[in-house]
Amino acid sequence: MERAAHEAGTWKATTPRAAYAPEPSLPRRLARILSLDDFEDAARRHLPRPLFGYISGAAEDNRSREDNRSAFDEYRFLTRVLVDVSRRSQSVSLFGKTYASPFGIAPVGISALSAYRGDIVLAEAGQQANIPAIMSGTSLIPMEEVAETAPGTWFQAYLPADESRIDGLIYRVRSAGFETLVLTVDIPVWANRENNIRAGFSTPLRPSLRLAWDGLVRPRWLFGTLARTLLASGMPHFENSFATRGAPIVSRTAIRDTTGREHLNWAHIARIRKLWQGPMVLKGILHPEDARKARDLGADGIIVSNHGGRQLDGAVSALRVLPRVLETVGDYPVMLDGGIRRGTDVLKALALGARAVFLGRPFMYAAAAAGPQGVQRAIRLLRDEVDRNMAMLGINRLEELDSGFLIRRE
Ligand code: FNR
Repeated sequence: MERAAHEAGTWKATTPRAAYAPEPSLPRRLARILSLDDFEDAARRHLPRPLFGYISGAAEDNRSREDNRSAFDEYRFLTRVLVDVSRRSQSVSLFGKTYASPFGIAPVGISALSAYRGDIVLAEAGQQANIPAIMSGTSLIPMEEVAETAPGTWFQAYLPADESRIDGLIYRVRSAGFETLVLTVDIPVWANRENNIRAGFSTPLRPSLRLAWDGLVRPRWLFGTLARTLLASGMPHFENSFATRGAPIVSRTAIRDTTGREHLNWAHIARIRKLWQGPMVLKGILHPEDARKARDLGADGIIVSNHGGRQLDGAVSALRVLPRVLETVGDYPVMLDGGIRRGTDVLKALALGARAVFLGRPFMYAAAAAGPQGVQRAIRLLRDEVDRNMAMLGINRLEELDSGFLIRRE
């Protein structure tokens, strides 16, 4: 009966959430994308091999990247039934702001090379959907442009190795208008990303015949992203590593600008805490004692993360260590990333106590394969999954979730 009513156009959802109907104006390319993983295939077909390899790859044997996925699979849900779930809301509060969904866009480096004006595409999509989007500091569009186009975007910084340049960067981020600062702290040295070498990707980018061929066989990317970027703004530079513009992506100094960070330590974070008045988040924490240090030092929150498996191969997955972190820091904003691909993953992390989660690769693939519409579609897919799954779990609000909804598989 419901189906007949639906077809006759008389069926009404109890809430304005009749979101599962196909979107009317969806281009054919996107209509076939039904889950976040579908974007990965679309991006593989769209991007030159080295660039796709840069995004998808991790460190050494990809052990942490793979475990980020399997960690979620170790939990099963214990559902509640016959609960009136007609008033569902997936909104969350973070640092005094209310966001429409409990997930956000993780920072992804050089995104403007994978998608035309990628940093802006991601930031704007986040703003429009009212979810947090974190702009990477390893980016090719000046932060000021992103802050102006998409106010509310968070900025992620890597601390410059040369300490005298730290304050300048922090002042710049503040003057650009960012309110929330994310400091990524898990890169004392670059990981062994041998996968990048195998795929033909390097920093700096070294022009070669093979690279040219890899580009030529992906004409939509070649013209739609690379040529368009070169025509509009010339050779991309690392724009946001310091207070001033950094090196071009093909320059040898690009690598020098991102190395030599071994000496950075908690004292540098304490200093930045004094300089930065807004919310400050540390990303890349795994050890519960580091979480405690972050909290005691005055960070407003942490993102538990193994960097998508891209740093220490074999580093524990955020989801696995989350309960221990929460035992140590108690009621403190702990967020998480790594391996989230479904609404069920989001809800598992939240049931274990995360306040919110972030996704890196899926949104980057969506931006690369289908631009702004792609990211909007990705957000909508995930939002619909969260919503539908909340109903099947028997909850109206995310605060109702706890570990009682989960069973760990033996
Ligand atoms: C990243 N990540 C990242 N993190 C960060 O703090 N600054 C950065 O510039 C980047 N750059 C970056 C590039 C690429 C291509 C990827 C895939 C990842 C890590 C990212 O923010 C996040 O921690 C992971 O991507 C989360 O894992 P998933 O969602 O990709 O599985």
